[in-house]
Amino acid sequence: MFKPPSFKNDAIDRRLCVAPMMDWTDRHCRYFHRLLSPNALLFTEMVTAEAILHAGAERFCEHDLTEHPLALQLGGSEPDRLAAAVRAVRDFRFDEINLNVGCPSPRVKAGCFGASLMAEPELVAKCVAAMQAETDRPITIKCRIGIDDMDEVAGLNHFVEAQIKAGVKIIYLHARKAWLNGLSPKENREIPPLNYDRAARLAAEYPELDIILNGGLETAEDIRAASEKGAFCGVMIGRAAYKTPRELAAMSAEMFGHELADIQQIAEEMSCYAKTAAQKGVRLHSITRHMLGLFTGLKGARYWRRTLGEQARQGTAHASLIAETAKICLARQGASSARQGASSNRKVA
Ligand SMILES: Cc1cc2nc3c(=O)[nH]c(=O)nc-3n(C[C@H](O)[C@H](O)[C@H](O)COP(=O)(O)O)c2cc1C
Repeated sequence: MFKPPSFKNDAIDRRLCVAPMMDWTDRHCRYFHRLLSPNALLFTEMVTAEAILHAGAERFCEHDLTEHPLALQLGGSEPDRLAAAVRAVRDFRFDEINLNVGCPSPRVKAGCFGASLMAEPELVAKCVAAMQAETDRPITIKCRIGIDDMDEVAGLNHFVEAQIKAGVKIIYLHARKAWLNGLSPKENREIPPLNYDRAARLAAEYPELDIILNGGLETAEDIRAASEKGAFCGVMIGRAAYKTPRELAAMSAEMFGHELADIQQIAEEMSCYAKTAAQKGVRLHSITRHMLGLFTGLKGARYWRRTLGEQARQGTAHASLIAETAKICLARQGASSARQGASSNRKVA
């Protein structure tokens, strides 16, 4: 389905990746996603190098071992600070460290980090080289196909060539431009048009690079179609993985050939996780907020969302709420099996 990785020293399977998403892919979310997909490469939210250096790595980097394979995404634009952050997170043993060169956050306007760095290929190359000098784990980049009026062909090639020279072998490519003047980050994920052909051309022109396609992929069918468009090494899924978690399970089952995740089992495991987390002071809602889409498209979706969304906010709610609510929702599916395939069950409303 996908091109085999060209970076032979690297054992990470990147055929299916779940994108870094600020405020969404925290450790609780990743624990949940791991239950849906035993193999996908998961990403942390973006953490700035400065946050790690000022507040300490523990606060941002602690995670459960089951989350591996796990990539840490860093934001920053100063080679020395990024290198120091890579040093500071060494003990957490992330499988990969990724530099954010694609996020059009408001701070980008101040030229701090993210997509604005696409206009500074040499600086990004210096950042990457400085980071790589601190670790034996792969340093990778997540970027767009361009920003503003940057030439999507010559500009992107120039950017990518500078990174290849700096030793980058793996790029996650959000296949749309970022328009830094006027659009909100949300609009920048929707309005600039997707251009998978440009991504495919890049993959053809630089076969020594592993390119993982990102942007607008929502179903296993989308992934199949994307894999036929170009010599990609895999796909990265963002919003669909978060909002329709059963789609993530379906993508993973198709990609890796494992059984479809069992919803009741997942709910029970999340209840156990929440019980342990509660002993450390984690509020139930901090965990359930990532699970609200689990029944999307199925009977009981509204009941699930309401129960987990509202009751879990109350300090009195118990961790078993997750498993108990799932049981009620699954009973509403009638006599059908508890194994709910995402795509195949879309019509069950
Ligand atoms: C809520 C949210 C937060 C995001 N935060 C980040 C981030 O921290 N770093 C990053 O590189 N991209 C971030 N993104 C962009 C996603 O990683 C991804 O590139 C984008 O959503 C396109 O993929 P999709 O169409 O599959 O969602 C974020 C997206 C969303 C929806």
